[in-house]
Formats: sequence, C-alpha cells, structure tokens
Amino acid sequence: MSDPILEARNVSRHFSVGGTLFRKPDTLRAVQDVSLSVQPGETLAIVGESGCGKSTLARMLMRLITPTSGELFFEGRHIESISGDDLTKLRGEMQFIFQDPFSSLNPRMSVGKLVGEPLETQRPDLSAKDRRAKVSELLAQVGLRPEHANRYPHEFSGGQRQRIGIARALASGPKLIIGDEPVSALDVSVQAQVVNLLADLKEQLGLTLVVIAHDLAVIRHMSDRVAVMYLGGIVEEGPCDRIFETPQHPYTMALLSAIPEAEYGIERQQIELSGETPSPIDPPPGCRFHTRCPFARERCRTEVPALRDAGPHHRAACHFFEEIASETGAPARLPEPRSAAAESRFSLYADALAGAPVRPREPET
Ligand SMILES: Nc1ncnc2c1ncn2[C@@H]1O[C@H](COP(=O)(O)OP(=O)(O)OP(=O)(O)O)[C@@H](O)[C@H]1O
Ligand SMILES: [Mg+2]
Repeated sequence: MSDPILEARNVSRHFSVGGTLFRKPDTLRAVQDVSLSVQPGETLAIVGESGCGKSTLARMLMRLITPTSGELFFEGRHIESISGDDLTKLRGEMQFIFQDPFSSLNPRMSVGKLVGEPLETQRPDLSAKDRRAKVSELLAQVGLRPEHANRYPHEFSGGQRQRIGIARALASGPKLIIGDEPVSALDVSVQAQVVNLLADLKEQLGLTLVVIAHDLAVIRHMSDRVAVMYLGGIVEEGPCDRIFETPQHPYTMALLSAIPEAEYGIERQQIELSGETPSPIDPPPGCRFHTRCPFARERCRTEVPALRDAGPHHRAACHFFEEIASETGAPARLPEPRSAAAESRFSLYADALAGAPVRPREPET
C-alpha cells in the first residue's frame, strides 16, 4: 500500500456529560483508541449502529473537533501542527458533506454564492467573471444547470440540495471528501443517483472518500474498504468483499445478519444479539462487545482484544475469531436472481462503478 492520505493514531474523544452544581459530570467515551488509515483514491466506509461514534470520529478526522488524545496526520503531516495559510489550504483539501443538505446550506444565499464562497478563500486569484464560470462548471459537474446559480436552496429537491452541497465541497479542489450519511436523508431512488454521482466524481477527480452510511447495500457498492465500529472502537476492518463475504468479528456477522440475504446474494448463519448496547459512559471491561456476544467466554470479560490480522489487509478485534469462523462455517453465495428491488439498485450502482454518465434528476418546478 502507498502512504496514507489520512491517518489516525490511537485517537479518543471524551465528552463531559450530566454535570450539575452538586454532581461531577460523567465521562462519555464517544471514540476510544481508534487507529485508522485511509489510502489515496480509496473509498472507506465507516459503519456501526447509532451512537457508536462514527460522526465523532469523522469530525475529528476533519479537524472540526479535537481529539482528547491521539494524533492525526494528513499526507504525513501532523494535523494539529498545521496553521496559517497551510491550514486554509488543508481545509480546502479536506471537505465534509453533511447528512442534511438543507441545514448545512445558508437559506439566504443563492446557489451561485454558496458554491462560489469557498472559491473566494481558496482561489483568490480568480476574477469575479472567472469565478462565475467556475461555479457554472461545478454545477454541471454535479448534474445541475448554470441557471440554478440564481436560485435559493428552498427551491430545490433534497437530492438537488445534496448536489449543491457536493458542488460546494468540490469548489475548493479537495483531495479527500468525508460524507457523514450523505444519502440517508434522501429517497431510495435519489440515494442511488447521489451514490452514482459520488462514485463518478471520485473517478473523474481522483478523490479519496470516507463515507459513513447505515445502508449496507450502499456500502457494498461504493466502498473499497470497510471499518466496523462498536461502542467507540473499531472491531473489524478490511477490504469490502472480505468484510461482506468472510466477516470475522461476531458483531460484523450480526450487522450483516440484519440485512436480507437477497439484498446482497450471500447466505450466512444468522447471528442475533441479545440485550442493549451498553452506555459509552460505563463501557464493559475486556472486550467491549462481550455483554452481547453469543460466543463470549471468560477471557472476553477481562482482556481487551487487539485488532489483529485476519487475512490480507483484514483485521478483527476478537480473541476467538478463528474458532468462531470454523463454528459458523463459510458463507455460501445464493443463486441468482435477487429480488427485483435489489436488482434495480445493483444495476444503478453497477452503472456508476462502470463510469456510466450520471443521470441528473430533472429539476422540480
Ligand atoms: N457534543 C457532544 N456532547 C456529549 N456527547 C456527545 C456529543 N457528541 C456526541 N456525543 C455522544 O457520543 C456518542 C457517539 O456519538 P456520534 O454522534 O459520534 O454517534 P454516531 O455513530 O454518529 O451515531 P448516529 O448513527 O446516530 O449518527 C453518543 O453516545 C453521543 O450521545
Ligand atoms: Mg452520526
């Protein structure tokens, strides 16, 4: 592998919660000791159930919040030591796409202003005329029309607003885009269009993507690598195909069990979890997953499992994954055909991966 574009080393982020005049606040461990690297040109997906720390991790990666401990590197440079003009440049090179495009776009700014604003900081060399031309080019790149520059965010559909958010992110010429659930607020058909768009832009512009997503079908079709989080930590990480076809961590197996086989064409043993996710204020000792793991043993209650090799570029944090894998057996592929709904989504994603032109949504009037 080449040098990572982004690297997190043992980062944690704690929040103080619930303190009053008479009571000391509790420490909530939103992210705990996460190490992760992102290779240039890849799409890394971060998955895990609500509250496991995905957004907190993404915000730290973007330098929107600072880690309580640990270090972050962008292209080998320590992020916290970057300041002044270099920081402005870094902010342009890393861009964020939000889940809710509406709340992230200033409703009083026209689309032209919204997309042109980052150009004013990142490309002060451009004249007003060149900037307008660049805005038109960016709008075309995301499947919008030049005349959309004169309209305001409320005049657009959800999918179009997300396109505006993407054009704004592209304006500063980023190398890396982090999307926090960039499509989960959209209708399924629109989700596929935006997923296609991101995949196309990634190819055209040589971008690196980090995507947080709930929908495992989206992840399966967008990402090269997947990191699975549970209660603030990464429990498994590896190439997308390996994670879906030979998951090693029981939590990943349970996550995959939750989606119908027909959705992704692989048959596997169903693993059901008991109980609730523990609170990040009082995480269990040992393996953080042991309270819900159907395979947990004594060692899991006391000893924290390290993320260790589970195959090529594949790591899992479980003391017993070898035994569990032989117990649960290798998953078998299901015969075709898949369900009609799954089939239409697969073909949409497949088009995007094959570099087919993006089909912009017709503007709603
Ligand atoms: N600013 C904050 N102050 C206190 N607690 C916070 C703060 N931000 C996040 N948390 C807590 O940290 C934990 C992780 O939150 P985070 O938003 O990172 O989860 P998530 O995986 O993105 O969840 P979701 O899928 O619901 O978006 C949660 O328990 C959350 O309540
Ligand atoms: Mg979140």
